[in-house]
Amino acid sequence: MAVLVIGGAGYIGSHTAHVLRKRGYDVIIYDNLSTGYKELAEGFELVVGDFADRAKINALLRRSEAVCSLPRMPRWANR
Ligand SMILES: NC(=O)c1ccc[n+]([C@@H]2O[C@H](COP(=O)([O-])OP(=O)(O)OC[C@H]3O[C@@H](n4cnc5c(N)ncnc54)[C@H](O)[C@@H]3O)[C@@H](O)[C@H]2O)c1
Repeated sequence: MAVLVIGGAGYIGSHTAHVLRKRGYDVIIYDNLSTGYKELAEGFELVVGDFADRAKINALLRRSEAVCSLPRMPRWANR
């Protein structure tokens, strides 16, 4: 099982991914690369996709014991 870091190719998410790995967790990075960089996810499993893609997220949630979500929440998520 892994920790899913949504937005893990961004500034805070990539640091979070490294800290988690140092502490012994497997990390999966999920990012649409809108403001992130795939280089920041180097060495990690990177799945490119959008927060709104429920099918993709659900497949990753089945492999994850925890989620850390960094992107600003879209307006639709507050409804
Ligand atoms: N950087 C700061 O100093 C700071 C300070 C306070 C709070 N925050 C908050 O922390 C969070 C992360 O900030 P950051 O500076 O790392 O930003 P960032 O833009 O570097 O990282 C956000 C990451 O999320 C990805 N992303 C955006 N929308 C997405 C979507 N719909 N689906 C999948 N991935 C998506 C981007 O591609 C990017 O890699 C934000 O919510 C920000 O408001 C940041």
